[in-house]
Amino acid sequence: MKIMGSTKVLGIFGDPVEHSLSPVMHNAAFEAKGLPFVYVPFHVKSKPPGELRKAVEAIRALNIHGVNITVPHKERVLKFLDEVDEHALDIGAVNTIVNRQGHLVGYNTDGIGFLLSLREDTGFVPKGKNILIIGAGGAARAIFYSILAGSPASVVIANRTAKRAKLLADEFRKKFRGIDIKAISLAKSALEEHSSYADLLVNTTTIGMMGQGRLELDIKTLPPRAVVSDIVYRPLATALIKAAESRGLNVHNGLSMLVRQGTVSFELWTGKKAPSELMRRVALEALAL
Ligand code: ATR
Repeated sequence: MKIMGSTKVLGIFGDPVEHSLSPVMHNAAFEAKGLPFVYVPFHVKSKPPGELRKAVEAIRALNIHGVNITVPHKERVLKFLDEVDEHALDIGAVNTIVNRQGHLVGYNTDGIGFLLSLREDTGFVPKGKNILIIGAGGAARAIFYSILAGSPASVVIANRTAKRAKLLADEFRKKFRGIDIKAISLAKSALEEHSSYADLLVNTTTIGMMGQGRLELDIKTLPPRAVVSDIVYRPLATALIKAAESRGLNVHNGLSMLVRQGTVSFELWTGKKAPSELMRRVALEALAL
């Protein structure tokens, strides 16, 4: 890639940021589309406090064209922006900032990236379906919100800390009246009761990530029509995904979601259609390294 005086800079703010696959995906996409953009990692530390605010101010000062925001800054960044898209505001998290002549607008492409890739990989749409979500953290919020916006019949949110699931369910119940929303703990009996009629099971936690334990759920309790989704992509096939595949269930993995949130961000920054197949291929190659 040739960097010139007219090259526009984009990047990602995170702590840590070293393992992010976004630089490789976006740079390959810019190059393929012949766009004069370059995407770099910025290690914005969570401590001491104040670093994120300074980093956001630098977007304006340095005329950075746009950034992604990742862990642990997605929630805290909202208060530093000039405008936040309605969906990102409801989710309470921003993962994409667009710099419009110094006016910083925040978006959340995680939820839509999840839904689009789920539909592409498995044909699943939430309308009228029963959905079981594991986790109630930041990733769960975006997924929960997008699923609710798709008018499911019911959503059960299961979390280790049951109180956190209850708070999230109470909050979203007010926004999405008419949808049956329940909160439960991760107790095996409760999980299995609600998995018995689930059309979709989604893991939004780090359970199943390298060295992070496994979900106490017997996959046999899911109906044969169920789709199983796991947002973890290291490893690509988690124990949950492998168990679902060996039962012949339709599966959706975290890499698809990662690529799709990236394509939506790319389109916000460039106004052009993202080369999604290329982005998936380079992300897969980088994962294998
Ligand atoms: P993220 O933004 O990645 O979602 P987070 O907000 O810290 O991160 O949320 C992590 C989620 O994974 C939470 O739902 C957390 O459960 P708690 O609310 O009980 O902490 C869940 N989680 C993480 N490790 C877990 C484990 N070993 N077993 C069960 N749940 C786990």
